[in-house]
Amino acid sequence: MKTYPPLETHIRELIAATGPLPVSRYMELCLTHPEFGYYVTRDPLGRQGDFITAPEVSQMFGELIGLWAASVWNAMGSPPKVQLIELGPGRGTLMADALRALRILPAFRDAIEVHLVEISPSLRAVQRDTLANESVQWHDRLADIPPGPAIVLANEYFDVLPIHQAVRTEAGWCERLVGVDDDIFVFTTAKEPIPRFEVLLPPQVRAAPKGAIFEWRPATEIMGLARRLRDHGGAALIIDYGHVRSDAGDTFQAVAKHNFANPLKSPGTSDVTAHVDFQALGQAAESIGARIHGPVEQGVFLNRLGIDTRAQALIKNSNSQTAGEIASALKRLVGSGHKGMGALFKVLGVSHPSIPELAALSDHPATTGAAAS
Ligand SMILES: C[S@@+](CC[C@H](N)C(=O)[O-])C[C@H]1O[C@@H](n2cnc3c(N)ncnc32)[C@H](O)[C@@H]1O
Repeated sequence: MKTYPPLETHIRELIAATGPLPVSRYMELCLTHPEFGYYVTRDPLGRQGDFITAPEVSQMFGELIGLWAASVWNAMGSPPKVQLIELGPGRGTLMADALRALRILPAFRDAIEVHLVEISPSLRAVQRDTLANESVQWHDRLADIPPGPAIVLANEYFDVLPIHQAVRTEAGWCERLVGVDDDIFVFTTAKEPIPRFEVLLPPQVRAAPKGAIFEWRPATEIMGLARRLRDHGGAALIIDYGHVRSDAGDTFQAVAKHNFANPLKSPGTSDVTAHVDFQALGQAAESIGARIHGPVEQGVFLNRLGIDTRAQALIKNSNSQTAGEIASALKRLVGSGHKGMGALFKVLGVSHPSIPELAALSDHPATTGAAAS
């Protein structure tokens, strides 16, 4: 009899027992199955891994976000204690770079209490090493962190949260499922349409043609975050690849060894994600009573924070090889060409309603003023 790796065996058994699984359940099992999930079993980041994120591209990213956080603290009225929370901190690089940059602002540095929300035991171990000199508290979920004023950072976090997909069929919008056919995983659709689904769709999607796909994330996470900011004060910075306007389209994807892969093949061995719908995130946050800022493109955000000045300061003290690396990192972070993150990635701010502006996210750019240090 043919044998499969443990996670694939488990998913096949589930499908055999209960029928095809919603895409969201399949994605959840691939990423966070408690024993065999992708993030549970490995550190996938970096050149040797499967993908590279902005903090791993350059220290400039985390440094500027640290200074952005300081400007938020000022806008909050400089409370004596503030939680600096990161959701899905990967290798801990962003937090380490941010805290290092903040040494120049001791009053803020002293007010900070660091909290990391991380599901992966392997990445928690890496974070423990990266942040060995810091006092850090780890949590499984945002809701586990005690209440208090907070500045929350989330880089490439929302894209890993499971999405649902629905397909427009003759009968209506039906949930997209993962089943088995001819011994391989395939997409299929539920037989019955989702009741009253049209009412929930953004108006621009209601007229989508047959075969169109609409995907959405449950709003639990963004609503929990917005509620926390509304009730206890502070702001969040959400950075991810995605679109500013809700629309039809299939962005369910897998990445392994820096290349796109088939998300239905070898579950648990590639990073399965989907683009972030920033309009949906913003609307959910506003529905709770939080204020939103942006979104703006990552390139715009980093330029407004003065990344070019920071790059020039680093280049001035470097040999020619390092200077070349800094220049290409800058291009990758703000550029929109091949592998450029500047336009694909968007930045959304969410805050307590009393904060009228967040640095680099309003149309009247404020800067942190510290980027040249
Ligand atoms: C794509 S990585 C981004 C890492 C980091 N923010 C960076 O930019 O390098 C996603 C991160 O979210 C974590 N993660 C994934 N699903 C999670 C969940 N449900 N709850 C908490 N953390 C999760 C992963 O372990 C990882 O640290």
